Amino acid sequence: MKLPPGPKRPFWLLNLQFEADPFGYMDAISKRYGDIVTVMSGSTPIVYVSNPLGIKEIFTNTKEIAARGELNQNFALMTGNQGVLQLNGLVHKNRRKLLMQGFHGVRMQACGQRICELTEKIMSQQVVGKSFVAYPTIEDITLRVGVEVVMGLYEGERYDKIKHLFVSVLRHGQSPIDKILSNIFRQRDLGRWSPQGYRLHLRRELFQLLSAEVEERRKQPDSSRSDILSDLIFACDETGQPLSDEEVRDLLLSPIFAAGDASGTALAWSLYWIHRLPSVRLRLLEELDSLGENPDPMSIVALPYLNAVCNEVLRIYPTQLFTFPRLVESTVEIMGYELSPGTVLIGNIYSTHQREDLYPHPKEFNPERFLEKQFSPYEFFPFGGGSRVCIGGAFALFEMKLVLATILSRYQLELVSQRPERPKFGGLICYPASGVKMVMHGRRQHQGQSQPFVVSSI
Ligand code: HEM
Repeated sequence: MKLPPGPKRPFWLLNLQFEADPFGYMDAISKRYGDIVTVMSGSTPIVYVSNPLGIKEIFTNTKEIAARGELNQNFALMTGNQGVLQLNGLVHKNRRKLLMQGFHGVRMQACGQRICELTEKIMSQQVVGKSFVAYPTIEDITLRVGVEVVMGLYEGERYDKIKHLFVSVLRHGQSPIDKILSNIFRQRDLGRWSPQGYRLHLRRELFQLLSAEVEERRKQPDSSRSDILSDLIFACDETGQPLSDEEVRDLLLSPIFAAGDASGTALAWSLYWIHRLPSVRLRLLEELDSLGENPDPMSIVALPYLNAVCNEVLRIYPTQLFTFPRLVESTVEIMGYELSPGTVLIGNIYSTHQREDLYPHPKEFNPERFLEKQFSPYEFFPFGGGSRVCIGGAFALFEMKLVLATILSRYQLELVSQRPERPKFGGLICYPASGVKMVMHGRRQHQGQSQPFVVSSI
């Protein structure tokens, strides 16, 4: 069977080229080979698809294509062997359902005020006239929100340690030195001073703290709590048995990582684009000011231009460039190619979002396109689709809007440099390479407001 075309260079070389310039590399590949491209990893074909018809097939054909957890094993070191990413079939479906209870209507709405307050608290710590790096500042907000929503932890020594460990895990391996050492030592555990040894040390510490929390909560169950950990403690598996403590622990990991990392990255890119383009910032402020002072979070979430800006950020620089891989289990035809069992399929989010036929002038940041046209879930899919679609997509958008609204309406910020921010691939997510350096010019006076805002106490 003939595979779709693709580069013939060795996999490791392609990876190096991709990491050096992720977007440039993806653009070049799409230009040369089109919207269905094969990359060989040893003898396994990996087919990247950026055509809405092919994407629809990947997300909806559950007969021949499976979202196998085994394909996500490389994340298991940090998300546990029984995390949602590693699960299959009915168990996967059921655990997703349990996790998603935490992001439904009333519960999500109840977090709105808290997200605004936390944003205010963190932003008010910035010194006027001094520059700061937006990404870690915003990540502090999104990680706190994540730990609160998922574990129901708000403060205390264990909360601080858990938060610190999540940040350490996310940062580990990101610096050039870490990368060089990782290449020298490969994945060998040569004690705490080797990259893998240190990673395992962080994992042990994090897993111990999470397990301690799970055990304590199991001993003192409280049905009035409305966090995901409580849902999991009271839940039963397919045989009617309670979930084991290890299973509960592993299920907590991916949502907290995603809540902190993916949402934090999307917000850092949002601040970058909004402050790069004065007309976008002005239009947003006009829309936000029209709600009056201290608007209700739900009216912020319903603002059309704010929604369009968030969508455009996730279109132009999707934080996750690709869906998780899917596996062809019986021969399937995709866009005229017959693909054999064993072929890996990946939805190429970035390149679909860069299609000129869907998004004219795709390199331009133009939120208006989302006001003028409705895109299908196979044309615009920053949260993936099908059986592995992001469980926190609606929550992520909700949070993005509230954090942005709070920052923009209350603070005057500016980018330190107008130089374009480069993307940096971190294994799954594409970060702003310099973290988006900004300077705080002080509080913003709300239109028609004579007194400065009062910082709400937490
Ligand atoms: C802007 C923020 C976010 C983006 C862009 C994002 C994007 C994605 C994407 C592209 C996928 C893969 C879907 C697929 O393979 O089809 C995914 C999966 C996932 N996301 Fe998100 N995500 C975000 C925030 C969140 C949040 C806030 C949570 C939870 C609190 C979350 C939890 C997950 C989980 C658990 C999965 C795996 C689902 C599974 O394996 O069944 N994500 N996300």
